[in-house]
Amino acid sequence: MNPRRSRRVHQRAPWNHNIHLHGVVTAAVPHGATSALDVGTGDGLLARELRNAVPDVTAVDVDGEVLARAAMDRPDIAWVPGDIMRLDLGRSFDVVASVATIHHLPDLTAGLSRLRDLTAPGGALVVIGLARPSSLGDHLLGVIGALQHRWYVRRRTLWEHSAPTIWPPPHTYREVRVCAAEVLPGMIWRRHPMWRYSVVWRNAPVQDAASDFISGHTPPGSVASS
Ligand SMILES: C[S@@+](CC[C@H](N)C(=O)[O-])C[C@H]1O[C@@H](n2cnc3c(N)ncnc32)[C@H](O)[C@@H]1O
Repeated sequence: MNPRRSRRVHQRAPWNHNIHLHGVVTAAVPHGATSALDVGTGDGLLARELRNAVPDVTAVDVDGEVLARAAMDRPDIAWVPGDIMRLDLGRSFDVVASVATIHHLPDLTAGLSRLRDLTAPGGALVVIGLARPSSLGDHLLGVIGALQHRWYVRRRTLWEHSAPTIWPPPHTYREVRVCAAEVLPGMIWRRHPMWRYSVVWRNAPVQDAASDFISGHTPPGSVASS
């Protein structure tokens, strides 16, 4: 594509601090994944992006109005109204993603645990969230974020989502990181300048009996034979 046309396309693409990090989610989609869940989908932009990567996408939001707008013209996605803490989805997903939503849930530990439990063995959970700064590093990153923001708004079309928001977020970055490390052992934490963090956690695949046998490991409760 010629550079002038490429610049125009970029300028037209909707952009905001959440959309900016959708790539963190799509990069974490496991090889061979077939199902994805977007929790707190809002206007549904991430669900639409995930649908390009996997055939079976479910998008949940507690706000019926925003969900109805998101669902327009997209019957290829399952749009489910309801509170993620109470919904019985009856299944797990290869990818569970939640952008700018976890701070809406009344209990951080319970919210992260719920998303973890919805992640299938071998699947990935990605949480992009907002928190409050509490350290010098947080504030410095905020300054870099402000500069980045100015740079992007001149080059992109800043798009305001229409989903409900909560401000300020109840937890500091540090509190979220400590809680995520407890609930999601082995998670990868990243701070992003434009007032977001990301958590990527991979659920261990179910080890099959054959690989246990090859590695010489006998699962608990089974009888070793010689
Ligand atoms: C700030 S918006 C983010 C929307 C979207 N993920 C984005 O990146 O633009 C948070 C969304 O979470 C939804 N939400 C809040 N609590 C929820 C819950 N308990 N279950 C499902 N969705 C919830 C809100 O209705 C809202 O649409």
